[in-house]
This record gives sequence, C-alpha cells and structure tokens, in this order.
Amino acid sequence: MTSGGDAPGMNAFIRASIRRSLEVGIEPYAIYEGYTGLINDHIELFNYDSVCNIIQRGGTIIRTSRSSEFLTKEGREKAAQNLNNHGITGLICCGGDGSYAGLKEFTNPTTGQWAGLVIGTPGTIDNDVRGTDFTIGFDTAINTATEAIDKLRDTGDSHSMHFIVEVMGRHSGDIARAVGTASAAAYVITPETGVNFDELLHFIRSKGHTIIIIAEGHPIGGAYQLADLLLKQYWNEKNSKPNFRVSVLGHIQRGGSPTARDRILAHDMGVFAVDNIKAGVTRKSVGIRDQKYVLVDL
Ligand code: F6P
Repeated sequence: MTSGGDAPGMNAFIRASIRRSLEVGIEPYAIYEGYTGLINDHIELFNYDSVCNIIQRGGTIIRTSRSSEFLTKEGREKAAQNLNNHGITGLICCGGDGSYAGLKEFTNPTTGQWAGLVIGTPGTIDNDVRGTDFTIGFDTAINTATEAIDKLRDTGDSHSMHFIVEVMGRHSGDIARAVGTASAAAYVITPETGVNFDELLHFIRSKGHTIIIIAEGHPIGGAYQLADLLLKQYWNEKNSKPNFRVSVLGHIQRGGSPTARDRILAHDMGVFAVDNIKAGVTRKSVGIRDQKYVLVDL
C-alpha cells in the first residue's frame, strides 16, 4: 500500500516488494488508494507482470490518499475485515508520519482492530520520518527544486530580481536546507532556524540579484508573506524598492521520474520490508542510517 502524499520512488518500492514477495513464497496483494482502498476493499492480487515497466514512473500506480475515515474506529474495523476476508496476514505501507500513526493505531495490541503484521517504509518528499537519514522521494524533490531554482536564477540575474522561493516540506526544513545549498541561495529560512533580518537585508542591498528560500512550514507563512513583511516592516529606503519576485514551487516537487538514488533506496527498502514481514517482524519502520538498512519502532 502507498499512503499520504505520493513521492517519486513509490513505484520502485511497489515493484521490489511485489517481486520479492513472489521470490520468497508470499502471495502479494496491492491495496489501491491507501487507507481509502483498504476500507472500500479495493484490493487486488498482483503477479510478476503487474509491476512491469513502472520503476521510472513518478507518482504511484496503485494511487494514494489521505483518509479521514481511517481515523475512526468504524473505518479501521472495516479495513481489518477486508484484510481478513482476503486472508492477508501482513501489511507493508509506504508513506509518511500520518500513515505511520494509522498503522500504529490499527495494530495497537490493546486498542487496535487488526492482529496482522505491519511494517512502514518511509515514503515522503519531506524527509521528516524519524529513524531514517533519508525518505523515499526526498532526493528527487530536491533535484526538481534545484533545477527550477537554476532557471529562476537565469532570469533573476538578467533582470536584477530578488527571488523569494517557497519550497515544500510541511513542518520540516530539510528540503529548503538541501536546496539552499545546492542552488547557492543567499539566505535560507526554515522552521528550525530563526531569521536574522539585518543579515537578510544586507544580502538584498549588496547583491544585484538574490535567491532567498523559505520552507512552507515557517511561522512567517510562506514566500508571499515574507515579501510583504520585508517591504512593510523592514525596508526603510523611501526612494527605492527591491525588485522582489515570489515563486511558490508547489506540487511540481512531488512529481517526475525518480532519481537513481530514490529508485535504489525504494527498491532496497521494499525488499528489506518483505524479508522482515516474512521473519514475523511487526510494528517497525524501515530506515537507512549510516548507509545501513535498519528497523526502528513505528
Ligand atoms: O507531505 C508531502 C507534502 O507534499 C508536503 O510537503 C506538503 O505540505 C503537503 O504534502 C501538501 O499536501 P496536499 O497535496 O495534500 O496539499
């Protein structure tokens, strides 16, 4: 199952987990549309050919969702019934923190609805899942954003523009920090760091053009709010105004063909998750730490 926001590499995860299952004698099913499909019994038996020619594709061929119904006990009871009807005994879910919270609740030993085995694999562009250095999709997202900012730099340089660029990441500043370094931004604002407005204004005053990156989760609110704040509260020069331009990169960061690094990470995590389900492991998340695949508590 893939769940939550899609992330490039999810198809590589699906392919690897289906193929590995067949290799070790597990009959693999795919659950469509995340928890929504689990509740609505959109569950299909997959075979070797079901996952042909998908490793290079962005998105997820089995689609995904953010389900509010799974937050209810009734929703989770329906989901458990469907899994049991199919004779499914283990569930691997590729998603982010919301999807993990669902797995935990669903299989809680005292209050949960399902007694099967569950393993999470971290799939989100935000890189915000505990216990892993990298999540599936992060590398592609930062490459996409960097490429976009390179283009903004070309036009910004030609027209002396100061670009304020908003990147995704929900509450995490990882995308902003990585993209800021890769695109040599003058200033990066993340939820984890404060803003030194004097320093920021110094860059704007002393450079003909600048790239300023703000993570969407910063309390300022985003790129438009930052531009507004700078002009209304911090810019004192009466006779001049910086040529601010705002660019919100948005969902393009979630799409596109996964990088080789994301494909490899997703492949390895899919295989590792299946092997651990086969070994009877449950309520764990797959992570990569110091270049080794590890299990941590969900
Ligand atoms: O979690 C991935 C993510 O793309 C975040 O970076 C972003 O805040 C959020 O999902 C957007 O979600 P939606 O597509 O549901 O608006």
